[in-house]
Amino acid sequence: MSEQTYSHLIDLNDYPVDWWDKVISLGASIYAHPQRYVQACAGKIMATLFYEPSTRTQMSFQSAMIRLGGSIIGFDNPMSSSVSKGENIKDTTKVVSTYSDILIIRHPMAGTAKAAALTAECPVVNAGDGGHLHPTQTLTDLLTLKMEKGRLDHLTVGLCGDLLYGRTVHSLIKALTCYPDNQFVLISTPELQVPDYIIKLLRDSGCAFRTESSLDEAIGELDVLYMTRIQRERFASQADYLAQKDVYRLTEEKMQRAKPDLAVLHPLPRVDEIEIAVDDDPRALYFRQAQYGMYVRMALILRLLESETPAPLLRGTVNSSLRCVNPKCITAQEHYLPHQFIQAGGRTVCEFCEEQAVPVSLI
Ligand code: NCD
Repeated sequence: MSEQTYSHLIDLNDYPVDWWDKVISLGASIYAHPQRYVQACAGKIMATLFYEPSTRTQMSFQSAMIRLGGSIIGFDNPMSSSVSKGENIKDTTKVVSTYSDILIIRHPMAGTAKAAALTAECPVVNAGDGGHLHPTQTLTDLLTLKMEKGRLDHLTVGLCGDLLYGRTVHSLIKALTCYPDNQFVLISTPELQVPDYIIKLLRDSGCAFRTESSLDEAIGELDVLYMTRIQRERFASQADYLAQKDVYRLTEEKMQRAKPDLAVLHPLPRVDEIEIAVDDDPRALYFRQAQYGMYVRMALILRLLESETPAPLLRGTVNSSLRCVNPKCITAQEHYLPHQFIQAGGRTVCEFCEEQAVPVSLI
């Protein structure tokens, strides 16, 4: 196991806030002086293993490594790799990590990046694990807020759309609760509210938050509006998706009721939750946000390639009489993984996806 050897980024909250702050400030320095870093990763290789579609995350990582003077390998269609022959995450990761100096992985099952890090022989970065987390999008969001609003605290943040399956939402809430006096308005339908573990985390953090079904009601009080796409690919049925898909739409008319310094963020891709006309509003920051993502990923690559004290990878304990309830957890697919659990908010949850543990006898 590689857990004490490499600095992985699986969940930002594995590191202290000052670690994130250093990555964000380095991202801002690279943004200001990119020419100073053109040889910083000369001779290094980054592998991108994308088992799910991506435009920004994959290409911004690739562009980041190339701009640092390094090279890239990888796949974005697992069916063109040995995955199509039935290879498991463990074996793919083990081998590709010996070809590369850093490995970036995206996968539809929650907890896959952590599973990959267990056997990797280089740092692993979670580029999105199912509906669970997306820490490098959060670094992107934090750099955007730092550059555009000048602070990461004392913000009223509205998150709107698919708060249940939106991994960018979960990672961003987890991060922003760690800065002082942020408050949250969770704007969604009852069906797409944040998962229970996020509600518990918000309660434990002491941050003010409320759920809200109307974007119109909330928009006037927000400093930040984080719009999200309804995550069609994560719904159990097409009918469930269709019932949700057009509920929220940010329009020019709604923007008239927003603060003059509102920051509108979106991890992209947009479907139709933001009207195109809003793009011309100076408060619409999502395209700039996507660009900041490349600079913060350059900073992250540099930071993880420095050999520093790694964050511990596994914190919980194995309990073979428990199972994770989440059918979309990597432990449900890759049966060699340990059934490992942690305590969070007074509950026993899966170490890989943070969903509830239940006794095997109840399954
Ligand atoms: C997001 C993702 O993949 O979770 N996109 C991204 O990485 N910028 C959001 C989404 O797909 O809706």
